[in-house]
Amino acid sequence: MIAKPSIPDLLREPGARIGRPVSRVDGRLKVTGAARYAAEHDASDLAHGYIVSSAIARGRITRIDTRAALALPGVLQVFTHENRPSLAWFDRKWKDQDAPKGSPLRPLYDAEIQHALQPVALVVAESFELARHAARLVEIEYEEATHQTDLHAVRDQGFTPGKDKGGFQPPPKPRGDADRALAEAEVAVDVSFTQATEYHNPMEMHGSTVVHHPDGTLTVYDKTQGALNTQTYVCNVFGLSQAQVRVLSPFVGGAFGSGLRPQHQLFMAVLAATQLKRSVRVELSRPQMFSFGHRPETIQRVALGARRDGTLTALIHEAVQESSRYENYVEIVVNWSGQQYRCDNVRLDYKLARLDVHTPLDQRAPGAATGVPALEIAMDELACALDMDPVELRLKNYTDVDPNTGNPFSSKELRACFRQGAERFGWAKRTPQPRSMRDGRYLVGWGMAAGVWDAMQGQATARATLGIDGRLTVSSATADIGTGTYTVMTQIAADVLGLAMEDVTFLLGDSSLPMAPIEGGSWTVSSVGSAVKAACDRVRDRLVGLARKSNEGPLAGLPAEEVTMADGHLVARSDPARRVPVTEVMRAADLLTIEEEARSVPYYLARSRHAFGTHSAVFAEVRVDPELGTMQVTRVVSAVAAGRIINPKTARSQIMGAVVWGLGMAMQEEALIDHRLGRVMNHDLAEYHVPVAADIHDIDVIFVEEQDEMVNPLGAKGVGEIGIVGVPAAIANALYHATGVRVRDLPITVDKIL
Ligand code: MOS
Repeated sequence: MIAKPSIPDLLREPGARIGRPVSRVDGRLKVTGAARYAAEHDASDLAHGYIVSSAIARGRITRIDTRAALALPGVLQVFTHENRPSLAWFDRKWKDQDAPKGSPLRPLYDAEIQHALQPVALVVAESFELARHAARLVEIEYEEATHQTDLHAVRDQGFTPGKDKGGFQPPPKPRGDADRALAEAEVAVDVSFTQATEYHNPMEMHGSTVVHHPDGTLTVYDKTQGALNTQTYVCNVFGLSQAQVRVLSPFVGGAFGSGLRPQHQLFMAVLAATQLKRSVRVELSRPQMFSFGHRPETIQRVALGARRDGTLTALIHEAVQESSRYENYVEIVVNWSGQQYRCDNVRLDYKLARLDVHTPLDQRAPGAATGVPALEIAMDELACALDMDPVELRLKNYTDVDPNTGNPFSSKELRACFRQGAERFGWAKRTPQPRSMRDGRYLVGWGMAAGVWDAMQGQATARATLGIDGRLTVSSATADIGTGTYTVMTQIAADVLGLAMEDVTFLLGDSSLPMAPIEGGSWTVSSVGSAVKAACDRVRDRLVGLARKSNEGPLAGLPAEEVTMADGHLVARSDPARRVPVTEVMRAADLLTIEEEARSVPYYLARSRHAFGTHSAVFAEVRVDPELGTMQVTRVVSAVAAGRIINPKTARSQIMGAVVWGLGMAMQEEALIDHRLGRVMNHDLAEYHVPVAADIHDIDVIFVEEQDEMVNPLGAKGVGEIGIVGVPAAIANALYHATGVRVRDLPITVDKIL
C-alpha cells in the first residue's frame, strides 16, 4: 500500500551516522510495551483522581455538593474551589513557556465558568473506577450566563492582537496598494475560506502520576513536550523549589502541540498529592481531551490579482480567528502568504475574536496549516482563470528572497521540490480540464500545492560523558513525542565521535538534565542537535589534544585538524594506519570519564539578515464517485526541502504522518459545537473522525537535497511540521480537477462535494 522509501544519497563520508536511515533506538521498547507512559507509572500509596467537568459554557457555580461522593467508602477527598488551599499561583500570575498574552485559566480558582468542560472538581479515591463513579455523584448547580461560541456571529468584532510570542510576529505593513492593484488586475480571484476547529487527540491521553515521597518531594511523570516547562509550572503554582520537584517524561505517545502547555490533570494531580501527602494519578478521559487546546477555527479571505502572463500584481490575505476571553492565542495565519510569492502590492491582516471557549493551542504547523491552504487554493483558482498550469504559475512568481523582509533565504530548494515532485507524480500527463480524467466510473483529479514552514532554533544545552569503556552518554531535557529525537541525537553524537550507535545512549525527558526548550515548532534537531554536536565536539577536542600531546603515541605532534575519529579510534586523516583507541588515550591520561557540557545558540547575526524556512511541493490524486460524492486520496507525493536530513527513515515517517494529518484536515477532522450549549458534540474518536488505515493509500516522500551553512552547524532544519502544510490544498485542488466542484471550507465532506 505504501510506496518504497525514497532516500536521497546524501554526500557523506563513509561510516558517518548522519544521513543513514537508522531504525528507532527506542522502537523495541515501544512495540513491546516496555516503554512506560505518564499514567502507567505506579506507587505503593497511589490514589486515583477523576476530574469533574463543567456542564455549562459560561456562568457561575451556585452550589456544589460533594456529600454523596464523600460518603462512599474509599473516596478520600473532593477538591473544589470552596476547599482548595491557597496557592502561590493564586497570589501571582504565572506563565508557562508557551503561554500567550493574557491570564491563564486557573483550575478551581473560583465559581466562575469560562468554557465548557472546564474542570470544576477533582474526586480522589482508592481506585480509578471508584473515583470515576463518585465524580458522577458530585451535584453542581449553575447560574448560566449568555455564551457565544460561534465565530461567524462575531467575525466583525475582531481586534488586532499586539506583538506577542517571539515566533509569531504581527503581519508586516502593507506594501504597494493591494486593493487598487486588485481592482485594476487583468485577472482576479477573490474568495473566502473557512476551516473547522480541530483537536490534537494524541493516542496517549494527557496523564500525570505524581509520586509523593516521605520528605515531601515529588517525582512527577507527566505527558509533556517539555519536562522543564512542567517543573517550572509546578514549582511556581505550588510554591516549591526546583530541588523538590523532578519531572520525568521519557516517553510521550504523540502530542502535536497538546503538550506544549501544562494541562489540567497536572495541576489536579499535584494539588491532591501535596494535600493528601500521597501519590496521585490523574488522567483525562477521551472526552476531556476536548477540554483544552485546539487548532482554532478561522475565517479567511484571499484575493489575488495578476497580469495575463501570470505575474501576481495584488495579494490580500485577511484572517479572523477565535481565541478565548482570557488569553490572546495568536498564530498569525497570513504571514506566509507575504513570503511565498513575489508581489509588489500586498496587504495582510490578522484579527482575533473572543469566544467562550478554552484558549486554542499550537497544533502541528500552527498558522501555516491554516493560512497556507487558503492561499494555495486561491492560487489554483487563479491558475484556472489564467488557463495556466498551477506549477508554472508558482514558478512564475517564485522568489529567493522573503518579500516580507527583503532578506534572502539561507537556502530554498522549492524549485527542485516542484520539479522532482512533478516528475515522480507524472504531472506532465495531466489533462487540465476538470472532469477530464477517469478511472472506470470514477472521476480522477490531480492537484498540487506548495507548503512552507519556519526553520526556527532556540538555545539548548547538552552534556556528553565518555567512559573508559568507550561508551558515551549524552543528555538534554528535551522530549521525544514520537518524532525520533532519541534516534537522531544518538546519530549526531555517534557521528561526531566516530562511535557505533550501540555505544551511545541519549537521555531526555528529565528535568534534572541540561536545559532544553519545549519540543515544538520543528526546532528540536536544530536546537538540541546543535547542542549535542557542540558537547561531543568538545569531548573530541579534548581527546585529540591528549593524543597529540602524548609523546610516543602514533598521533604525537599532528595538527588538530589532521586528526579524525572513527570506530572508537583517533585516526590521522592522511594515514589511517596511524591510529590509537580512544580508551587507550584516556587510560594514558588517567581519566575514567571525559565530560563536557555545551550550550548552542542560534547564529543570531545570520538570522537577522536572512530568512529561514522549509518548503514543500505536494501532489495529490483523488478518485471521486460521481454518484455518491465520496472521495478517496489514492496518491500523494510530497517533495520536501528541509536542509540536511539526519535520518531519512524517521524523517520520512514524520512526513507520512503529516500527510495523513493533512488528509484528516482536508476531509474529516471537525469539532462540531452545538452553539445552544456551547460545547463540542463529537468529543470522542467514534464521532470526531480521523483517517484510518483504509483511508490511506500511496504516500511517497522525496527529500530534495538542500545545502545550508547558515541555519545551524548541522545544516538540518527539522521536518515535524512541513509535511502537513501543503496537503489540504493539494487535495482540495485535486477535487476541483476531478469534479469541477470548488470547496473552500474544510473539511471537504460528502455534502460539499455533491
Ligand atoms: Mo508542534 S504544534 O510545535 O508540537
